[in-house]
Amino acid sequence: MTQLLLSKSINDYAEAYTTPETPVLAALNRETHLKVELPVMLSGHLQGAMLQAISGMIRPNTILEIGTYTGYSAICLAQGLSSEGQLHTIDVNEELQDLCFRYFCEAGLEKKIIQHIGNAAAIIPSLQHLFDLVFIDADKQNYALYYDLVFDKVPVGGYILADNVLYNGEVVMDATAQSKNAKAIHAFNEKVKNDTRVEQVLLPIRDGILLIKKLRP
Ligand SMILES: C[S@@+](CC[C@H](N)C(=O)[O-])C[C@H]1O[C@@H](n2cnc3c(N)ncnc32)[C@H](O)[C@@H]1O
Repeated sequence: MTQLLLSKSINDYAEAYTTPETPVLAALNRETHLKVELPVMLSGHLQGAMLQAISGMIRPNTILEIGTYTGYSAICLAQGLSSEGQLHTIDVNEELQDLCFRYFCEAGLEKKIIQHIGNAAAIIPSLQHLFDLVFIDADKQNYALYYDLVFDKVPVGGYILADNVLYNGEVVMDATAQSKNAKAIHAFNEKVKNDTRVEQVLLPIRDGILLIKKLRP
């Protein structure tokens, strides 16, 4: 799914001058690449450090992540939680649940990270929380739906992050050359751009992250 939009040398330089991965994240990164299909889906060192930094600046009491995969971004985001905070993370793939839990334990986060297994569109409405920070990183066709489903669960002043918003650079291609997912991502970017309830910045890191702040209900 994701190639580097930065040159490899610039990406390597950025990683070299970013705080190194913790041993737990490095082991999870390695195990994912050795044993799990589509390791390119894992956020990785640079993006993970950025997610951790953003979360640390917000100090959320509650985080919602849509798309756990092997738990890398969940661990990064959870580092920024307030002392009593919790992160809820949803994934449709039950096969990765045990691997995630093992690493959440190794990171000392097993009480802070709550895993939900199932279709995000069905699970989100059942969550009775406000989320200070939401990270959308699941099936690209449903980003706009997830945005709508979470919007009322984010307080004014809260944040929504959406991953892969450059979709491998396809978003700038002619529509006839775009894949179905790239078209959906572009439509999502347009939707957020036209939403007067929010302000946003598109960070061209890795595959693009849209950082959205809710200004009004
Ligand atoms: C890009 S990966 C998430 C990567 C992870 N956030 C990270 O950065 O390490 C996307 C995940 O979304 C999950 N997913 C896809 N469709 C879903 C759906 N409808 N509901 C819940 N999860 C879904 C996939 O199983 C996959 O694990």
